[in-house]
Amino acid sequence: MNHTGLHADPELLTALAADLRSAAFTVDGVQQRLGPVAAAALHREQVTPARRVVTDDDPLDVLIRFFTLGDAVPGELLDVAVPGLRSHGLRELGLLADDGRARFDLRPHADDTHDWWVVSDLSELVTGGPLPDDHVLGIGGASTTLASWTVRRPAARALDMGAGCGVQALHLGAHCERIVATDLSARAVEILRFNAVLNGERWDVRSGSLFEPVAGERFDLIVSNPPFVITPRVAGVPLFEYRDGGMVGDSLVRTVVHQVEAHLEPGGVAQLLGNWEVPAGTDWQDVVRQWLAPTELDAWVVQRETQDPAEYAELWIRDGGHRPGTEAYERMYAAWLDDFDARGVASIGFGVITLQRPATKRRRFQVLEEHSGPVASPMGPAVDAELAALTWCAEHPDEVLDQNWRVADDVTEERFAAPGADDPSVIRITQGGGLGRQLHIDTAISAYLSVADGDLTARQALVAIATLLERDERDLLERAQPIVTRLVETGFLVGT
Ligand SMILES: C[S@@+](CC[C@H](N)C(=O)[O-])C[C@H]1O[C@@H](n2cnc3c(N)ncnc32)[C@H](O)[C@@H]1O
Repeated sequence: MNHTGLHADPELLTALAADLRSAAFTVDGVQQRLGPVAAAALHREQVTPARRVVTDDDPLDVLIRFFTLGDAVPGELLDVAVPGLRSHGLRELGLLADDGRARFDLRPHADDTHDWWVVSDLSELVTGGPLPDDHVLGIGGASTTLASWTVRRPAARALDMGAGCGVQALHLGAHCERIVATDLSARAVEILRFNAVLNGERWDVRSGSLFEPVAGERFDLIVSNPPFVITPRVAGVPLFEYRDGGMVGDSLVRTVVHQVEAHLEPGGVAQLLGNWEVPAGTDWQDVVRQWLAPTELDAWVVQRETQDPAEYAELWIRDGGHRPGTEAYERMYAAWLDDFDARGVASIGFGVITLQRPATKRRRFQVLEEHSGPVASPMGPAVDAELAALTWCAEHPDEVLDQNWRVADDVTEERFAAPGADDPSVIRITQGGGLGRQLHIDTAISAYLSVADGDLTARQALVAIATLLERDERDLLERAQPIVTRLVETGFLVGT
């Protein structure tokens, strides 16, 4: 049974891709055509500035009107906009409705070297009403966050679990040989197959819940932007497939953390987004540590945001297309608060979870940190470097002082002193890339960083510094060891 009315005809989709390319219906092409103001307004879901820019005279404008603004467009104009496919081809693919409007959202997407097109269900901006339960989400903020944080190492086999429209799978195609894309939603599975053909990709698309479709299989890389939204399980609250996995509280993400281990190759990495509930009197790190406890996985978890229950309820009720003041909105708001109250939830954290199955027998690492500020974009290279550094430190716990580290190129140091004081009371180092961390260090570590250019081992440098500062050598080395380890793990110090 066809759930979407889409027909992934390879010939027609090849013609469509060629037409879209030649009309410059790409991220850069649309951005240039609309200009910065209308393009930025569109990101805020405001269409009026874009409407004032586009005309009927140009294929790109017609495509923007049809696919982006949701306008009804006469067949003759579509024939000009997609001359290889023509309007009857759009209809055959299932993209054109009888009223001359697009049946689906189709938008360009890109990385540094690829232009893609992504079909998804029409947004609320176009339909003007609450979304249906089986809505297939387009590219959103969470999608781009996960894509940005993903480690882009060459990999033989990758899995995109809960692939939706396939945005993560498209990015995986740039560095992974074989890609399995799964989803529970029948509509998403059809849209995935459609997008694979449209973009010339050969994903192995499978239907089913969580890891069921890949039972007994292992991957080098698993990415998932899972349906992590916490939703009250009561009548009258819609259960959107795209954001809600049908479990109580944050159980779905916890389940993914527990089950993912069995599907990772040794050395394999899994990256996912998630929400976690933090009960009153506990810490988010306790919650996530409990999730990790039954696994043998390395973990680096960065909490990016926290919300109180009321903020969380407002966000997700609005996301479903409901506005304050209506009876439905207020009823759902109360249901969300009741649900959180029932589990004593004081706040909800959101973050990026990076897990690794150790390739060797060693102690595992578990780093849980909070960082709400801006991060590098893309963040993947920093995650890759940090995973490698954390892994090295876990594999060589006693060797950190015997390496010739050098200060990474993006590190700067600032010194703060009381007026008139000779010595600084605070020395702060800052990373220019990655998480842009800041650390306070003491004079001895600062002295070490000032000479850490790869010539000496950390031990050699610190012994000399102990003599210079008239400090006990053994005590200084003992204190420095965990600090140097953390500086290596976080990329302030790098190998030569
Ligand atoms: C937040 S969307 C992510 C879509 C896309 N990967 C992205 O990054 O934008 C979550 C996806 O998970 C799917 N999903 C919901 N429940 C699922 C389950 N139990 N197993 C697998 N996928 C599920 C939804 O249909 C939806 O496509």
